[in-house]
Amino acid sequence: MAEKIIVLDFGGQYKQLIARRVRENNVYAEILPNTTPIEKLKDKDIKGIILTGGPDSVYLEDSPSYDPALYTLGVPVLGICYGAQLMAYQLGGQVKTAPVSEYGSTEVTMDNQSTMLLKDWKDKSITWMSHTDYIAVPPEGFEVTAHTPVCPVAGMENRERNLYAVQFHPEVEHTEEGQKLFRNFIYDICKCEGTWKMDSFVETSIQELREKIGNGRVLCALSGGVDSSVCAVLLSKAIGKQLTCVFVDHGLLRKDEGDEVEAVFGPEGPYELNFIRVNAQEYFYEKLKGVSDPEQKRKIIGAEFINVFEKEAKKIGMVDFLAQGTIYPDVVESGIGKGAVIKSHHNVGGLPDHVDFKDIVEPLRSLFKDEVRQAGLELGIPAKLVFRQPFPGPGLGIRIVGEVTEEKVRIVQEADYIYRQELEKAGIDTGKGQFFAALTNMRSVGVMGDHRTYDYAVALRGVITSDFMTAEAAEIPWSVLQTCMNRIINEVKGVNRVVYDLTSKPPGTIEFE
Ligand code: XMP
Repeated sequence: MAEKIIVLDFGGQYKQLIARRVRENNVYAEILPNTTPIEKLKDKDIKGIILTGGPDSVYLEDSPSYDPALYTLGVPVLGICYGAQLMAYQLGGQVKTAPVSEYGSTEVTMDNQSTMLLKDWKDKSITWMSHTDYIAVPPEGFEVTAHTPVCPVAGMENRERNLYAVQFHPEVEHTEEGQKLFRNFIYDICKCEGTWKMDSFVETSIQELREKIGNGRVLCALSGGVDSSVCAVLLSKAIGKQLTCVFVDHGLLRKDEGDEVEAVFGPEGPYELNFIRVNAQEYFYEKLKGVSDPEQKRKIIGAEFINVFEKEAKKIGMVDFLAQGTIYPDVVESGIGKGAVIKSHHNVGGLPDHVDFKDIVEPLRSLFKDEVRQAGLELGIPAKLVFRQPFPGPGLGIRIVGEVTEEKVRIVQEADYIYRQELEKAGIDTGKGQFFAALTNMRSVGVMGDHRTYDYAVALRGVITSDFMTAEAAEIPWSVLQTCMNRIINEVKGVNRVVYDLTSKPPGTIEFE
């Protein structure tokens, strides 16, 4: 294994972002819990250790801590936020409740030009703060490198001992010179060579999967989406025919999508794996008959999906592992899920109850979406599939307002297909959000060739978003929308009106249901 940096987790919400910043600098990063025995940190490949933030106060008894021998391992240590306070506290400095909490954009002023960590930073720089405690007095031997009006120690370092700390979060984008800080730490302080690349992730994962799985059998629910596709290909490269992928076509996919998935993963495709396509369209339409409540629809689709999947799994018999394409944002979202239920999210990879398996494998658990895409390209998955628009588990079921019927599925598939074709022709960058057609539950009067029509209205939706938590309507040129409108009304039977949805999120959601 090549050089790596350990991110020691104290419960902060940005730990993955820290790991990502390290990976962006071509060094492998591994997140370990703060309960990891110190022996594990003595590996010679470990070039640096980063202590994350966390919600606690270091001076309280039950707060997470670590063996202070960490500071004498001879490996550079960087403490961030809680990690900075922990370092100060354990080495004899003072940590207290700050007179005023700092949240959000905060200007820090440099105090020390010989700083290694903040080398090349401007005299005043914008950072992102989020803290109620602060370091009041640094430990002996430490120099203060930066301060704010509230925080006397926004940064400190002991260059001789290779110990560094910052109160702010260099990992978030709002810290304008955060990237420089990571570069300084990784290259100047930890002396990394920076040889890690996404293909190393692929190679390492394949090796790790082989070790973990051995001769075992693995079952993977394949949706055709980016995450489950990358997960499946990674596994097929690692264990070949020990992998069985089950693809349930619930009849709520985009036009031709089922066949496209089969072309890539089926027997004619380039990968060596067992592929089972279950054509359950009729079954799903039957289950959804007469149901118009959005939550009920979602629940039915989710539950029946698992049902169909389980039936197939039972035919295969006992498997050793269930593979899931869980990626990092899924992990965070499911951890947070204490708020109000806006929509019950259904992921195709949801855990079935009755499938016999010993363990789960989730090889993409530490990656962000764009990193998954990069891994997909490294694995040779077609770009068309890798850059596919995000598509919800319940599929068109939640893009058809009201009752789902086969006829409505056809309408929305055709309209969506035309819309996507025209966006592509016009060179619209759809990678910055989500673009799709939905079918409203509204029928209205129109006139076509002297005949009265009474047909459905298709809604086109396009949103720009980076995190899918908030979104704004995309500004699509009028002429493109007009072409879409003309083509949809002319080519899709049952539609006589096309509207463009301007609603942002909030107050709207991206999907219609
Ligand atoms: P909303 O509609 O809540 O969607 O603004 C935010 C993002 O989540 C996707 N989405 C889902 N994805 N299962 C999924 O896998 C679901 O049940 C689901 N519901 C919404 C939606 O497409 C958008 O990207």
